[in-house]
Amino acid sequence: MKKILITGGAGFIGSHVVRRFVNKYPDYEIVNLDKLTYAGNLANLTDIEASPNYRFVKADITDAVEINELFEKENFDAVIHLAAESHVDRSITDPTAFVMTNVIGTVNLLNSAREFWKGDYDKKRFYHVSTDEVYGALGDTGMFTETTGYDPHSPYSASKASSDHFVRAYHDTYGIDVVISNCSNNYGSHHFPEKLIPLAINNIKNGLPVPVYGKGENIRDWLWVEDHARAIDVIFHEAKTGETYNIGGHNEWKNIDLIHLLCKIMDKKLGRAEGESASLITFVTDRAGHDLRYAIDSTKLQEKLNWVPSLQFEEGLEKTVEWYLENEEWLTNVTSGNYQKYYETQYSAR
Ligand code: NAD
Ligand code: DAU
Repeated sequence: MKKILITGGAGFIGSHVVRRFVNKYPDYEIVNLDKLTYAGNLANLTDIEASPNYRFVKADITDAVEINELFEKENFDAVIHLAAESHVDRSITDPTAFVMTNVIGTVNLLNSAREFWKGDYDKKRFYHVSTDEVYGALGDTGMFTETTGYDPHSPYSASKASSDHFVRAYHDTYGIDVVISNCSNNYGSHHFPEKLIPLAINNIKNGLPVPVYGKGENIRDWLWVEDHARAIDVIFHEAKTGETYNIGGHNEWKNIDLIHLLCKIMDKKLGRAEGESASLITFVTDRAGHDLRYAIDSTKLQEKLNWVPSLQFEEGLEKTVEWYLENEEWLTNVTSGNYQKYYETQYSAR
């Protein structure tokens, strides 16, 4: 049986990865390590939390001693590392938290892998989940490929770029088997409502202003989160050691066009008159250092590992809206802060 440590499994993407691995690989033992910051929510995983091949460990990757003890005790076969501070706006107000978790936390995991996997590096795997933001910003044309140079602009992307470099350095220096993927913007269920799409859904639902930074002309490439989890599964199992894969939806949207599409869907789902939701759009001060455009070229992943996105954006966005409207309790618990009690009431007494 393979024992896999998934970090950040209580977050948005991590919970989709944990669910996929727990359900698809009953012969794997999945250990979900998460600090449960504001972004960690164990209610994301209620459907699989009782599975015999799943366990949760509350721990902080910035605590090297705690991480070392866990590696010594558990003898993991692989790590899929998603734990991170993930929100660009928060990185602008508090960069240090991003250095601590994204850089130091990643190095702590690498150090434990180095120490406890010694002599066995070729049988173990360290999979680092990263972002397209490490490549910087594009103008009107072009796409990021795996060979695009790093040029991060925000404290978030600088911290992720640094962690990518450390992962590659531990491969080149110590021979640890690593793989890295750099993905574009994800959307789907269980997304914390500080990010554009879930924030807009929540605000439109409640008749609140929908803040659009600057003129809404920035462009992002959106990918259905379950397609990202499937890509991670394929890359984890099939990529050669030391390889990097870009993951993206080939699905570029100007923010303002995306918000108008979302408003149209919300009008329909909430039985509102056409244009009612769009009247909530409010242009606000732009994000500092706001990258103009991201676009991922995922040809390598499509051609080498046969992965293609499964959902058209309009369909995925409609499914996302439906999920938020059907899961009102999840959303209310997140916005009220009640979700943070889930661990105390459901887990800590176990
Ligand atoms: P998220 O913020 O929803 O979840 C992050 C998780 O990490 C949370 O559960 C949080 O509690 C946990 N965490 C934070 N600090 C920790 C620490 N010190 N120790 C242990 N756990 C800690 O993030 P997400 O959007 O799911 O992103 C997951 C990963 O994917 C990140 O590495 C991010 O950089 C990367 N990524 C995200 C996107 C996206 O669109 N969201 C796109 C590409 C890559
Ligand atoms: O590209 C991958 C990255 O995508 C991930 O690495 C990050 O973890 C993830 O948070 C996401 O970063 P972005 O900054 O692109 O996502 P966000 O949802 O914060 O913003 C998307 C776009 O919408 C961006 O151009 C900023 C804009 N925006 C965002 C918010 C929160 C607004 O116009 N208004 C808002 O209120």
